Amino acid sequence: MVNFFPSIYDLAMQPLEKSKFQKIRKGILSKATGRVLEIGAGTGVNFPLYKHAEHVDAIEPNEGMIEQSQPRKAAAAVPIQIHRQSAENLDFPDNTFDTVVATLVFCTIPNPEKALREILRVSKPNAKILFFEHVKIDQPALAFAQEILNPVWKRVCDGCHLNRDTLKTIHDCGLQVIKVTSHYKGLFLEIESENKIN
Ligand SMILES: C[S@@+](CC[C@H](N)C(=O)[O-])C[C@H]1O[C@@H](n2cnc3c(N)ncnc32)[C@H](O)[C@@H]1O
Repeated sequence: MVNFFPSIYDLAMQPLEKSKFQKIRKGILSKATGRVLEIGAGTGVNFPLYKHAEHVDAIEPNEGMIEQSQPRKAAAAVPIQIHRQSAENLDFPDNTFDTVVATLVFCTIPNPEKALREILRVSKPNAKILFFEHVKIDQPALAFAQEILNPVWKRVCDGCHLNRDTLKTIHDCGLQVIKVTSHYKGLFLEIESENKIN
């Protein structure tokens, strides 16, 4: 774990957040209702944007990120509880959540398939599972550049992969994809899906 990452994360993300991400996040989080699970909440950028959730359980394995998220947790409009957990081993009973939110996190989770199986286990039948992720781009030259940059990027950005085909992984794990919205020519995807397995 790179220790400085939590302290520089918000600053590094500021230009993207200002230009587009805050608007995208607002749209996604307006759909988060009932009991909500947020995966890899980081510095809590989403916390102020929950308006319709009854309660948010946010999981995050990095203690530095949890510390950074405390002011946003305190200022949130809905109750938020942060748990130090990894997505691959969720300490919640089966069929607990109405909505699961994952933003910019499936690039980093070491075992995304295991995490998705856990999300399906802890979410209720027909639960909404909402993603905003950067993915392997669908243009050969740019995808090649992502492959080349990936080893260095992973080291600098705390395990983040540039080259993951997260939409395919979501399909392969059996989530029902309802809607995909592409941003920045397919580099970022908003993926609205449902749990039709439970
Ligand atoms: C790029 S940050 C995104 C933070 C936040 N979700 C956002 O939208 O700004 C990725 C986050 O995933 C967390 N993470 C890494 N491995 C994880 C795992 N196995 N389970 C859950 N979260 C994880 C990291 O600690 C980090 O906070």
